[in-house]
Amino acid sequence: MRIIKNALQMQKIALGHVKNGDEIGLVPTMGALHEGHISLIAKSERNDDITIVSIFVNPTQFGSNEDYLKYPKTAKKDVEICKRNHVDYVFMPTVNDMFPADHKTFIEVEILQDVLCGKFRPNHFRGVVTAVVKLFNISCADRSYFGMKDFQQFKIIEKMTKDLNFKTKIIPCPIVREKSGLAISSRNSYLSVEERKASENISKILKEASEDFKIKDLNFIKESVLDKFKKIPESKLDYAEIVDFNDLSLADGNTRKVVFAVAIWIGRTRLIDNTVMIKQAKCR
Ligand code: PAJ
Repeated sequence: MRIIKNALQMQKIALGHVKNGDEIGLVPTMGALHEGHISLIAKSERNDDITIVSIFVNPTQFGSNEDYLKYPKTAKKDVEICKRNHVDYVFMPTVNDMFPADHKTFIEVEILQDVLCGKFRPNHFRGVVTAVVKLFNISCADRSYFGMKDFQQFKIIEKMTKDLNFKTKIIPCPIVREKSGLAISSRNSYLSVEERKASENISKILKEASEDFKIKDLNFIKESVLDKFKKIPESKLDYAEIVDFNDLSLADGNTRKVVFAVAIWIGRTRLIDNTVMIKQAKCR
């Protein structure tokens, strides 16, 4: 396994693999690697000749009042995890290499970037998409792996690659959860013992909602879920929305495949989670 810290060098190496006919898989991350990231790496290992993991805490996707400076950094451990999981290259660029002071180009995915988390984190997705596009160009990836935990991010990246004719295929990967149901996240390390306990309610509430979805009306589900979220101790809800799986527009009673997405503050930690729900056709 090689660690590459420079974008030009990474691109040269990737182009060499393309010339050899190798298929390249990219797993973009911000580090502090955990079982969720490892599941993406494992999928690339199965599909691709070469697996590149990028580790880059991207400043352009953080708001000025967000946790960029205190985002967990565990570089040494991350490199070990990559080694153990047969990664070929770890790409760890500097901020100056990815976004030098004279960087001027940003990519936006209209509408999709403005709903759900976009309402609360203006410019977040513009930063994500721009960094990801750069990573696609640097890594020459045939496939890139994204977790469904960040469902909106996955949909936006998928749309961008379609709209801009990227050759990179976007591979969605299921949410990896702790035994308690809590979606694994680098930010879970911020939680105190009490906050972690409170956070375990999030997936429980979503699970109950997907049970209700089979039999109950959408408005009823939304009301009952909002009620339950409001009762989680030390919490503040950003949103809990039921949206169309395909375009993130608000779902109605006729939408067959929906996503119930939530963003909630537990203490000073913002957590997101979601569940995909599909309405079965009625038996006649
Ligand atoms: P990061 O939060 O490090 O996540 C990297 C990838 O791991 C994302 O695709 C995310 O959805 C996935 N992931 C995180 N937790 C997961 C879990 N519990 N189960 C399954 N997949 C999980 O997302 C980012 O970084 C950044 O926005 C990035 C795409 C790297 C751009 O900077």
